[in-house]
Amino acid sequence: MPPALLILLALAAAATASPLVNPSTSLAEVITPASPLVNDTSVPAPVSVAIARKYTGDSPGARAKANLPFALARFSKKSKLAKRGSSPMIYSGKLFYYTTVTVGNGQTVETFLDTGSDDFWISGPNCQSPVGNCKLPGKLINLTDPTIHSTGETFLDEYAAGNVYGNIYYGPYTLAGATTQKGHFGVSFFETNSFAELQALLGLGFNFQDTTGIDAVGQIPIVALKLKSFSFYLSNSDGTGVFTTNGYNASLFSGKLTYEKITDLGGYWGFPVSAGTVKVGENSAGDITDGGQTPQIIVDSGTTFIVLPTNVVKKIWKETGATVENSGDGTSWTTATIPCSVAKTGPDVSLTYSATTYAVPASIYVINYGGGKTCLSGFSGGAEDSGYSILGDVFLREWYSVFDIANHRIGFAKAVHPA
Ligand SMILES: *[C@@H]1O[C@H](CO)[C@@H](O)[C@H](O)[C@H]1NC(C)=O
Ligand SMILES: *[C@@H]1O[C@H](CO)[C@@H](O)[C@H](O)[C@H]1NC(C)=O
Ligand SMILES: *[C@@H]1O[C@H](CO)[C@@H](O)[C@H](O)[C@H]1NC(C)=O
Repeated sequence: MPPALLILLALAAAATASPLVNPSTSLAEVITPASPLVNDTSVPAPVSVAIARKYTGDSPGARAKANLPFALARFSKKSKLAKRGSSPMIYSGKLFYYTTVTVGNGQTVETFLDTGSDDFWISGPNCQSPVGNCKLPGKLINLTDPTIHSTGETFLDEYAAGNVYGNIYYGPYTLAGATTQKGHFGVSFFETNSFAELQALLGLGFNFQDTTGIDAVGQIPIVALKLKSFSFYLSNSDGTGVFTTNGYNASLFSGKLTYEKITDLGGYWGFPVSAGTVKVGENSAGDITDGGQTPQIIVDSGTTFIVLPTNVVKKIWKETGATVENSGDGTSWTTATIPCSVAKTGPDVSLTYSATTYAVPASIYVINYGGGKTCLSGFSGGAEDSGYSILGDVFLREWYSVFDIANHRIGFAKAVHPA
């Protein structure tokens, strides 16, 4: 465990006195906890836990590039999962933010928290894979635990590049203080996709409806856990962060939260951006939808880049001094290198969706790519393929995010990072 994570864990465990706020009981502006005299058991107290990426020595730039094809594929119109909508894309553990979920009788599973899907599943003890997956870093789940029961049903999650098959179980599980006694979860027995290093995934999305109207595992975590809201704080440097259920920690951001309304509850944590614009410093980089090609933007904890339509991103690259990469495999338009010196001198890139302008500074969007003078731009093209732009880690590190389930909206406020 990296030292930073230990510190965060200690902080999360030690502090109970500072302001954790529940947005469904109080206005966003109110930063004192609800009165202890109000004993509304339907509104659980906020709880924070540490989250962290699992580092394996790659540079942030290398991880960002490895993440991109999956981010583009998971929301792609061309993939099968766009129709089903419920399927996450999982690949390598180092690309995501994890926390520990307790399952059954105190068993712990390192779980990727994914706002872009809606199933909870765990790689199984007898999982087999023709392509060498099912190799888990953690302890295998023990299914003879007396609190874990089989539903007798199976599930299939279909991905752009392969499938996950498993059995459905039920039993207690706990995520950041939120508990269900009879929560459904999948346990995989066969994986044809690249799931190496992944022990478990918990989707925090709404109920993605497939054609039969149900998600694969049959019960979505935000409903099973009765979550009113959850929040992400991401460190700007070391791949750690803080995840909070049923509220937010007002000490982790400055200013007020501003909210964007979720209009399509059948799917992702996304909102319409048809009136959205992009600016680089003072210069306009145009309409965020590139003439209506991407009417929605999705907030995705499983994506690294800010993914926008290629034409928009080309303008951002040009204005920030980035050079389009030629990877030689037909994807040369999706990423760009950028001089590392831009991190100190470059302009903010500002996204305006509705009333509010969200700026992302160069220190965040210039991503270290293994030393030297060349870095990677945190902006990627390709959003026109799916019709969705994506706000990934590059955005979420600068903007604390509150996923307000009860009120169907996402709040953002400027994250406070230690100097
Ligand atoms: C809220 O965040 C601050 C700043 O990191 C931290 O000191 C405090 O412990 C956090 N509060 C809780 C209850 O987690
Ligand atoms: C609140 O509810 C809990 C659990 O039912 C109970 O133990 C506690 O006494 C109640 N507190 C107040 C102030 O009513
Ligand atoms: C699994 O759990 C059961 C019941 O608690 C226990 O008897 C058994 O030893 C455990 N198996 C392993 C491999 O830990």
